[in-house]
Amino acid sequence: MYAHIRPLLFALGPEEAHLLASTGARFAQKVIPSLIERMFAFSHPALSVQVLGLTFTNPVGLAAGFDKNARLVPFFRLLGAGFTEVGSVTARPSRGNSRPRLFRIPDQEALINRMGLGNHGAAKIAPRLKRVAHQTAFPVGVNIAKTHSPGILGDEALEDFAETYRRVVDHAGYITLNVSCPNTAEGKTFEDPAALDTLLQHIDAITAERQREGAAHTPPLLVKLSPPERERFVLDSLYDEILAVCATHRVDGFVATNTLPHDKGGLSGPPLATRSNALVRYLHTRTNGSKPIIGVGGIDCAEAAYERLAAGASLVQLYTGLVYHGPGLIARIKQGLVRLAEAEKYASISQVTGSRT
Ligand SMILES: Cc1cc2nc3c(=O)[nH]c(=O)nc-3n(C[C@H](O)[C@H](O)[C@H](O)COP(=O)(O)O)c2cc1C
Repeated sequence: MYAHIRPLLFALGPEEAHLLASTGARFAQKVIPSLIERMFAFSHPALSVQVLGLTFTNPVGLAAGFDKNARLVPFFRLLGAGFTEVGSVTARPSRGNSRPRLFRIPDQEALINRMGLGNHGAAKIAPRLKRVAHQTAFPVGVNIAKTHSPGILGDEALEDFAETYRRVVDHAGYITLNVSCPNTAEGKTFEDPAALDTLLQHIDAITAERQREGAAHTPPLLVKLSPPERERFVLDSLYDEILAVCATHRVDGFVATNTLPHDKGGLSGPPLATRSNALVRYLHTRTNGSKPIIGVGGIDCAEAAYERLAAGASLVQLYTGLVYHGPGLIARIKQGLVRLAEAEKYASISQVTGSRT
C-alpha cells in the first residue's frame, strides 16, 4: 500500500510529508487502533529480547527524532515495534533551525537533516510521557539533549541537561544521552571525553541523590555516539577514551550511531550502514559484550537488521528506512529476522547478538 502513498508524500517537501504522516498517525492511533494492530500484526516468541533489565517483545524500535514530542507512542506500539525512543527532549522548548532543514536523496534512499533539536521542551513532554510510559510491556526510551542555544555553555549546559534528566527520569524505560547531534553548533560538546566525564558525574550525583530520597526507579542510561569518520574504521582513540570515561560511571549501554556530519546537516540511511555496523562491532568487542548496544543507521531490511545484531547489537532502530519503505517495514523486518535466525538454527534472536564479530 505504501507504494501508492509514497509518491503522494514525496510530492510534498520532506518536512511537510513528515507532518502529514505524523498527523495521520495521531488520528489513526485514536480512531482505528485495532485496525492498525491487525494490519501490521506479526509476533513470534523467538523475537523476544531481555536486555537492560527490560523485556522487549521484539528488537525493532523507532529511532529518536521521529517522535520528538512523545505524541506517537501508541502508534508505534500498534505497528508492532518492540520499543520507541522519544526525543530529543531538551530543557527549553525550541523551534530548531530555520527551514529548509530536511532533504531527501532519493537515489540513495537517504536523508540529510539539520533539524536542530526542535521540540516542545521537557516541562510539556514529561506529562505526556507519564501518561503513556507504563502502558503494557512496551519500553519507551527518552532521548535527551542540551537545549539548542549556543549561549548555554559550561555549568549552565550541565544544569540544562540535568534539568531534562530530572523531569523525565520517572517516566523513562531507559534514557539516552544524545551527545552526538551534528546539526547544532554545540550538539557534540559532550562527546568530548572530558566534557562527557563531567556530564556523567553530574548524572551520577542526581542518581545518588534520588536514591537517598528513596526513588524507586533508576532507568538504564545509554550514550548515543557519532559514526566513525571513515568507513574502513578499525580502532579509534576517541571511542576508546569515551569507553574509558563511561566505564567509570553508571553507563549501561550505547546507541550507535547518530547521523554522519555533512555540510548540510547529518546524513542518514544506507550510506551510514557500514560505519554504524563497524562501530557496533567495535563497541561490542571492546566491552566483551557487557554493555548492550542499540544499533541504528541505514537499517532498511531484515538482512541489514540481522547483520547489525550479528555485529553486536541487542536491539535495532529505524528512521530513514520508514520514510522510504513505509510503516509495514517493521513487520517485514520482524518476519525476516525469524526466518534468518531459523536458517542459522538459533532458537532466539538474542543468540544472534555478537555472533559475527
Ligand atoms: C529528520 C531526523 C531527525 C533526527 N532527530 C534526532 C534527534 O532529535 N535526536 C537523536 O538522537 N537522533 C536524531 N536523529 C538520528 C536518528 O535517530 C538516527 O540515529 C539516524 O537517522 C540513523 O538512522 P537511520 O539511518 O535509520 O535514519 C534524527 C534523524 C533524522 C533523519
